Amino acid sequence: MLRKLAIIGTGNIGAVLIEEAARRHLAKVIAAVDVKEPDVAKGKALDCAEGLPIVKSDVEIIGSRDFSVIAGADIVVNTAGVPRSKRPDGTIPSREELLATNLKITDGVAAAVKQNCPEAIVINVANPLDAIVYRLYQKLGAPKNRILGMAGQLDSARYRYFVAQAAKVSVDNVEAMVLGGHGDDMVPIRSACRIAGLPVTQFINEDTLAAIEKRTRGAGAEVVGLLGSGSAFVSPAWAALDMVEAIAYDRRKIIASCVLLEGEFGVNGLFVGVPAILGKNGVEKVIEFPLNDAEKAAFAKSMAAVQKTVNEVKAMSA
Ligand code: NAI
Ligand code: 2OP
Repeated sequence: MLRKLAIIGTGNIGAVLIEEAARRHLAKVIAAVDVKEPDVAKGKALDCAEGLPIVKSDVEIIGSRDFSVIAGADIVVNTAGVPRSKRPDGTIPSREELLATNLKITDGVAAAVKQNCPEAIVINVANPLDAIVYRLYQKLGAPKNRILGMAGQLDSARYRYFVAQAAKVSVDNVEAMVLGGHGDDMVPIRSACRIAGLPVTQFINEDTLAAIEKRTRGAGAEVVGLLGSGSAFVSPAWAALDMVEAIAYDRRKIIASCVLLEGEFGVNGLFVGVPAILGKNGVEKVIEFPLNDAEKAAFAKSMAAVQKTVNEVKAMSA
């Protein structure tokens, strides 16, 4: 059990994080912060705390507009930022279009983390994911093992779900990874997709797989379109909690995570989604493996998209 789990941003994703972390007894103290008035974080914390006897959980839940509540946190999950939302004309913005707004919010979050819990492992969820993780790394100056982002675990879960449905098997039988940036160019790795250890191509034909991979790349936008306002929030929270649990219980679980690459997969200086062992130190090790030619080309395209957004971060900082 962690001593303290900090959740920054108690909107849609943050609220699920509080509730699930409490149910799972993940930390002795769950500290949630949001700037929203009158005191949304406190309200959501109190709502959840009052239900603790029903779910038989003795954790302490604190909510506040004041960042001092996150003091001494072991792990911080950052969800502070605006989400994608369908525009009145029906179009859906890209995650990258959130950059200018969310960069300012991120800088405030980084300052608060640095002041209150500089030793914490920070898992970022806010979009555009890879660029915001990069910014947090710039601002926090913490070692690379302590800063990572959640996206690959969600994108991989979406791929697994669609594959399980098409093959008419349990989701539990499907292993899959989606790597690269968390944008429209993300890379479902078909060569690593297995059903009960067997190649996915034994169960699903080429056309169906191509359609599943296209749907996976657009899965976030599909939910945005259906909700009308805001973006997916339950599955992203569950995915982030999988990462928190891997670290809290030193599981050394391999999870597609947005981490700093320094030569791995031929990439240098960018945070992008790759398989990594997560354990008590955060990112314990990046797992490299050979991609086939099509996957290599798709990964390079995705890297170019991440680099473009990171260049915008650098330009906005200048
Ligand atoms: P939301 O709008 O429901 O919640 C965001 C919360 O952040 C709001 O309550 C807001 O008041 C708060 N906030 C804003 N500035 C803050 C600050 N300076 N300090 C503390 N809190 C602050 O949005 P939702 O749905 O929870 O999404 C959060 C972020 O996660 C968005 O950027 C969204 O695009 C991203 N996201 C990322 C996913 C991923 O796979 N990485 C998946 C889905 C969403
Ligand atoms: C998602 O993939 C919008 O990043 C968000 O659902």
